[in-house]
Amino acid sequence: MSEPIRVLVTGAAGQIAYSLLFGIAKGDVFGKEQPITLILLDIAPMLPVLEGVVMELQDCALPLLREVIPTDKEEVGFKDLDAAILVGSMPRRDGMERKDLLKANVAIFKSQGAALDKYAKKTVKVLVVGNPANTNCLIAAKSAPSIPKENFSCLTRLDHNRARSQVAIRCGVPATHVKNVIIWGNHSSTQYPDVHHCVVNKSGSDTACFDAVKDDAWLKGDFITTVQQRGGAVIKARKLSSAMSAAKAICDHMRDIWSGTPEGEFVSMGIYSNGNAYGVAEDLIYSFPVQIKDKAWKIVDGLKINEFSQSKMDATAAELIEERDTAVAFLAV
Ligand code: NAI
Repeated sequence: MSEPIRVLVTGAAGQIAYSLLFGIAKGDVFGKEQPITLILLDIAPMLPVLEGVVMELQDCALPLLREVIPTDKEEVGFKDLDAAILVGSMPRRDGMERKDLLKANVAIFKSQGAALDKYAKKTVKVLVVGNPANTNCLIAAKSAPSIPKENFSCLTRLDHNRARSQVAIRCGVPATHVKNVIIWGNHSSTQYPDVHHCVVNKSGSDTACFDAVKDDAWLKGDFITTVQQRGGAVIKARKLSSAMSAAKAICDHMRDIWSGTPEGEFVSMGIYSNGNAYGVAEDLIYSFPVQIKDKAWKIVDGLKINEFSQSKMDATAAELIEERDTAVAFLAV
């Protein structure tokens, strides 16, 4: 067996982490042969809770888990990292303005970006989950100038999985029979779930999604709003935000970074836009369709975009530009 890799999860005392840590520790993400040192970072008041999480991880008696390090210190948490999953962020409190929320998160991700820059390996793969995920990711990337921007991504895989499942349920097939949905843009209600390039394996052969579903009005209407608003619907029903499905999506995302995407398939993730793809402005973390090989992503090129799609892709880009400009102004202070 190889040397253990060092994997950080922040927000490690929270509810997503509670579902996520087991998946990582048992080999669902980095492979069944890869020993792991897990570093759990949370804020000081949560250290007693972290102790409980450490005990439970030990009690799982997992073969790959070599060490678990709980901490509230960035110099401990970010040291020599191979992978960083940044889940912890400032939650929105009652009466809190969007701007104040953004400001608090800029402070967190500026500091964690600088810690990555200072302490982590230059090859570290960074996945930002804490909301607003795209903009937090951009701030972290900007605050870690010695680490390539391509190493940073944010989670839109949950939205991708939601879209996949909605189509699968509609067609009466398993979710794995639905390929190549796309989430464009922001992980927010302006995101655009696009099925124009999606194929459904129905009765043994691949069929274009619109032909398989046979309900264009649904695909251009309720399907989109269901996926866009799914997070809110889960909160309304559960009184807590998505955690099990978020953890599963994090595992899917990081596993694909580590081991690559299957031939002919693409997945969605928020990545750094250099202004060269699909007319998306540069210097945004925007969700694109990507294929991954040798731990490097490549945007899927040349997909035909119709007017309907273009207007939705532009709307979510406009929101991200505004979010970025507000956040970057805070970064300078
Ligand atoms: P939670 O409130 O249960 O846990 C968050 C944890 O982060 C808490 O233990 C908190 O103490 C910790 N934390 C806060 N500031 C921190 C800091 N500076 N450093 C380290 N830890 C810190 O929240 P939950 O449900 O686990 O969600 C976490 C985040 O993930 C939220 O921002 C949520 O909106 C986001 N989310 C993102 C999704 C996506 O698809 N991108 C999907 C679902 C949730």
